[in-house]
Amino acid sequence: MIELRDLRKSFGDLVVLDGVSLRFELGHTTAIIGPSGTGKSVLLKHLVGLMRPDSGQVMCFGTDMAIATEREMFAVRRRFGMLFQEGALFDSMSVGENVEFPLVHHHKQLSAAERRDRVDEVLEQVGLPGFYDRIPGRLSGGQRKRVGLARAIVGKPEVVLFDEPNSGLDPMTSNSIDALICEMKEALGITFIVISHDIVGVLNVADYVGMLYGGHLVEYGTCDDLVRSDQPIVRQFLRRNVALPERAGEVVRLPAYSG
Ligand SMILES: Nc1ncnc2c1ncn2[C@@H]1O[C@H](COP(=O)(O)OP(=O)(O)OP(=O)(O)O)[C@@H](O)[C@H]1O
Ligand SMILES: [Mg+2]
Repeated sequence: MIELRDLRKSFGDLVVLDGVSLRFELGHTTAIIGPSGTGKSVLLKHLVGLMRPDSGQVMCFGTDMAIATEREMFAVRRRFGMLFQEGALFDSMSVGENVEFPLVHHHKQLSAAERRDRVDEVLEQVGLPGFYDRIPGRLSGGQRKRVGLARAIVGKPEVVLFDEPNSGLDPMTSNSIDALICEMKEALGITFIVISHDIVGVLNVADYVGMLYGGHLVEYGTCDDLVRSDQPIVRQFLRRNVALPERAGEVVRLPAYSG
């Protein structure tokens, strides 16, 4: 179970999260949307204990990350794969070494050969077969993103956190990343928590969507619930990206999934 309970976080006078409660459904994909600077990345960092709340609970598999010890947090992080927004690749390491990094730290029982096999397998999964010895600095943006994705899933995590997996990618590459997320959810039962500005992508991958605004979760539900929301702020946010009817409650045809 992964659940936020009345999460509050301020930086000085700036109230970022003002009492957010949200349960993430295991085996499903939940997207968090909202304007820039609204606290999406901050929320995600709480889930793995990279930030501690001012108050509230962050329950991850029975551990409250708000008060967990380093040791308890480490045990929880083993079950997570993470692709952070600023989560750059280490340019001094090869692609393969970057992807291998979580295995070296969290899966010490694996031999070097087993790690290498797993890295090759996951590079193939993200469409980068044979990229082990490539240098991150010479890859395209989409390829770098895929390497980050490979690093996030290499340890076979139960939960994957993706902060803006599609930002800066062209529509075709975005589509293939969306397709990969859907495939991994179906095939491996992975729980995805995805932050995105890309509404079309969100509608492609998410089972549930929460919109964060002004420190609150102003909307939460399925994609259908979202596009039918009668909340002005939600509609305003969506209308920039998806052709919505003027009035709430009308049937909206979701953009076709073209992965
Ligand atoms: N470590 C920090 N110290 C001080 N302020 C911070 C810190 N981290 C985030 N903030 C502030 O918290 C607010 C929310 O930041 P956050 O990165 O979560 O936004 P976001 O919703 O992810 O935005 P974007 O869509 O642009 O990525 C911002 O005003 C940011 O400046
Ligand atoms: Mg962010």
